[in-house]
Amino acid sequence: MNIGVLGAGQLGRMLALAGYPLANRFTFLDTTGHPSVGIGEVIIDTDQKHLASFLEQVDLVTYEFEHLPVPLVQAIEEHKPVYPSSEAIRVCQNRAEEKALFDRLAIPTPAYRLVESAVELEAAARELGTPVVAKSVTEGYDGKGQAVVKDPSEAVEAWRTINHPRLIVEAFVDFVREVSIIAVRGRDGEVVFYPMAENQHVDGILRYSIAPMPDLDDGVQQTADGYIRALLDELDYVGVLTLELFQTRDGALLANEMAPRVHNSGHWTMDGAVTSQFENHLRAIQGLPLGDTAARMPTCMVNVIGREGEAAELLALPDAHLHRYDKAERPGRKLAHVNLLAPTHDELLERVRACAALLPDAPAPRFSFD
Ligand SMILES: Nc1ncnc2c1ncn2[C@@H]1O[C@H](COP(=O)(O)OP(=O)(O)OP(=O)(O)O)[C@@H](O)[C@H]1O
Ligand SMILES: [Mg+2]
Repeated sequence: MNIGVLGAGQLGRMLALAGYPLANRFTFLDTTGHPSVGIGEVIIDTDQKHLASFLEQVDLVTYEFEHLPVPLVQAIEEHKPVYPSSEAIRVCQNRAEEKALFDRLAIPTPAYRLVESAVELEAAARELGTPVVAKSVTEGYDGKGQAVVKDPSEAVEAWRTINHPRLIVEAFVDFVREVSIIAVRGRDGEVVFYPMAENQHVDGILRYSIAPMPDLDDGVQQTADGYIRALLDELDYVGVLTLELFQTRDGALLANEMAPRVHNSGHWTMDGAVTSQFENHLRAIQGLPLGDTAARMPTCMVNVIGREGEAAELLALPDAHLHRYDKAERPGRKLAHVNLLAPTHDELLERVRACAALLPDAPAPRFSFD
């Protein structure tokens, strides 16, 4: 099976690494001119002339990046199966569509308004009550295209800096923690769920994910499972889907956003789960049985961003697994992650702190249960 991947970054790289044991081959289509995948065959298509030769080589198509032109993906679907479908991309690449779907499926979200001018943004900030978070409805990632508006008088400045014709304005959630749920749906409609992860973001970028969470109520996991199952079934989805949520003081979950792909908050599964999110995505899209999603041990994923630490020092930590993406250092760039495992959460937190101390730009790890 030759799997075509739209996008050629670290997510595609890790998909391929999980697929080689299954005798999968990979062809990546890169439209940026800067592929970093480093393995498989890469077709650079900055001039939009190579799609036909890409499609000739591959049996089915998936993607590691959802900010793709929907008509392009629809055109690909005319020739080869695409999993997840272009409909999943259409919804997940647009925050307004995403929130409308959450509303339709009765999945709670922060209160929000859609605005198309600075005046409307100011009005939304007054109505919702500040602070609010304004986000471009399309193209955002890693906290880009967003601004926190602390007072309605800041609306003009926020509108100018985001510089986008349509924004979603959300009430700022006073969350206890951010969590995510990752689930996989097979071609036959079978769904499996990973244990939820607690995620620490700093300046909009994920830094740490820990799973399973030591203090997770079964009822909360079941609620999250129910939300993501509703999304998967509604979209007739095939593959890995990620839903990011805020957990509030009373234990309730509010949906933030979803990603129609393997996700950074699921990288812990590479070493910490019986079957990784990458392998399960490949199993799902090929119509193979889905693998066990259980955690082997408490696991923490530590993102390496901007500058790398010494590999030899990181690998000297007990049960530490370094995954480097073979990318050049640049401020804010995701370069690698370290998965740390330990028999107890206390020991895990010690290892996380030791790991953070070895990384030049790592923020202090902070978990809600610590
Ligand atoms: N309504 C909100 N209330 C409080 N914090 C928020 C809110 N929306 C976003 N944030 C904070 O900003 C971070 C990034 O927001 P969001 O997930 O919407 O953006 P993103 O750029 O798509 O991120 P990514 O694609 O990297 O997950 C969130 O993880 C959270 O820490
Ligand atoms: Mg996010």
